[in-house]
Amino acid sequence: MMTKTTQSSHEDLWRGQGQLLPWFKPFTKVFDWQEPVASWFSDGQINASYACVDVHALGDRKNKIALYWEDEKGNSTSWTYLKLYQEVNRIADVLQRFGVKQGDVVVIYMPMVLESIATMLAVVRLGAAHSVVFSGFSSQALRDRIDDTGAKLVVTADIGLRRGKNIKLKEIVDVALETCTTVNSVLVLQRQEGLCSMVSGRDHFLHEVVAQDEHVYVQPLPFPSTNPLFILYTSGTTGKPKGIVHSTGGYLTYVRSAFSWTFGLNNESIYWCTADLGWITGHSCVVYGPLQFGATQFIYEGAPDFPYPSRWWELIEKYKITAFYTSPTALRLFMRFGQEWVERHDLSSLKILGSVGEVINPDVWTWYHSVVGQSRCPIVDTWWQTETGCFMIAPAVQLKHVLLKPGSATFPLPGIEPEVVDAAGQPVPHGTKGFLVIKKPWPGMSIGIFGDQERFKQVYWSKFPGWYYTGDYAVRDAEGYFWLLGRADEVLNVAGHRIGTAEIESAAVSVAEIAEAAAIGVHDEVKGEAVVIFAIVRQGMIVDEALRAKVVHVVRSQIGSFVTPRGVYFVEKLPKTRSGKIMRRLLKAVVEDSKIGDISTLEDEASMEYARRLMSLKLRCCND
Ligand code: WT7
Repeated sequence: MMTKTTQSSHEDLWRGQGQLLPWFKPFTKVFDWQEPVASWFSDGQINASYACVDVHALGDRKNKIALYWEDEKGNSTSWTYLKLYQEVNRIADVLQRFGVKQGDVVVIYMPMVLESIATMLAVVRLGAAHSVVFSGFSSQALRDRIDDTGAKLVVTADIGLRRGKNIKLKEIVDVALETCTTVNSVLVLQRQEGLCSMVSGRDHFLHEVVAQDEHVYVQPLPFPSTNPLFILYTSGTTGKPKGIVHSTGGYLTYVRSAFSWTFGLNNESIYWCTADLGWITGHSCVVYGPLQFGATQFIYEGAPDFPYPSRWWELIEKYKITAFYTSPTALRLFMRFGQEWVERHDLSSLKILGSVGEVINPDVWTWYHSVVGQSRCPIVDTWWQTETGCFMIAPAVQLKHVLLKPGSATFPLPGIEPEVVDAAGQPVPHGTKGFLVIKKPWPGMSIGIFGDQERFKQVYWSKFPGWYYTGDYAVRDAEGYFWLLGRADEVLNVAGHRIGTAEIESAAVSVAEIAEAAAIGVHDEVKGEAVVIFAIVRQGMIVDEALRAKVVHVVRSQIGSFVTPRGVYFVEKLPKTRSGKIMRRLLKAVVEDSKIGDISTLEDEASMEYARRLMSLKLRCCND
């Protein structure tokens, strides 16, 4: 229960933060909490595209660089805020002519190019919501997402670039749309001639439909603060990804606040976040955060270590990056190459470093701090989720001095009230591991799962009534620092990407020969976790190398290559609890050769024996 005084200071905080935004109609109400949905600034009206672009392009930052872009080959370009404004307007004009309006969802399946950012901002300029699908997802994963949104329009590009190869994005879209009944238009950014085929009547090259007049203007109309800004799919504990919905005013306010308390971006910042636009980090930390500040950003298209391991450090030197934000998985990759690759470059422009996506191990933190940051830059380890909108537990280094501890995300940001609780919802003493919950609403919180509010309630708001359940384990130390300990549910974190074991398992059992499957995450030096599948074949089926390869192939093609299983084991039984749940913990222990722990709930000791026998086998690498 919130007391009156804390409630009003909580409200005052967010009122003040909300007022920093360029509202068309100022709000009077701060929030209205109808569990599980808070309506933030509900009588206010705003336009997200205006708040990120027009305010700069029509003001002093007109000729300031908004975005630098470079790819693996060294091709580069840059856009000023004025150019960004013109591109956003031109694309918004096209979208408007194709009928996009408030209430619609536009799916974006694009590479890391500046036009992708302009497209996101063009969609929201019209009051529609975007649903960006990471371009590493397969056609089937894309199809599921398009179908769930009911989108009528998809924006894509002919190709994306990674590791020197062209990824034919438009072809993937074509396959995804084979059975789709809602999409009637596909807009295609053409990057090279002749690299994709077009379906007449449905597909249009962007350059052929945009107005040639660079002064085309689409008025950014005021939309309610609670208007959905975007839907972003994320994995949960069932096979079906959840379309996480964020609202406009609350989300923009929270992202702005979280950024100013941690990174402290300002007019002089040159900021590089290495995340893809297809994840929440790309949304909040490439588009809606930095652009609200009128910062200069750098965007890179390609793999981190291609064509050589010093590529990123070279870019930091070249663009004089001041704030750099990346994931522990990327840092572990660079650590393996050795610090001499980093030391070749002058990184003296760096002022602050950030980390996101998974726990940053203390040795990685220390390497990042000393080798990349030359012991000069604070590290903001930011714990948050797709659902939370922006950073929740992170050092607020711009507000106060925070003594950093390698591996701890430190303390909650202002207005955020996390707690570590036991299964009964009782706070645990410091030093004891428990479930991380958030006790008070905050403006960046998701407003629901698209089309499934019941599931939203059940997943996040039913385990600990009245509190938001994060799905993570955490512990607080004697000084109150938060240490995140990974997922408490059946969700894996592969290279900072969240993926549900159920999604992998349903892909595996879609192979005709497979009767049952269990997916687990095992320790991986670079990716944090790697996927391993245990599978039972149907009676009479032959287990051979071809079947193993087939399972790997099907998982890759149904989800995406970023979840390529490292190993597939064929077993006769799977260890299950008496209530029939697969004991993934035991399978993990078998693979990692670690202690098995309590097996008192195991249904069938014999099934464990089968698993134990596997310990003598060596894991097969399928993805190298
Ligand atoms: C899950 C959310 C938030 C953007 C990227 C991932 C894990 C995220 C940290 C961190 C420890 C972290 C959690 C969380 N996670 N950041 N700094 N320290 N764990 O977004 O796909 O929604 O995944 O990523 O387990 O629940 P996401």
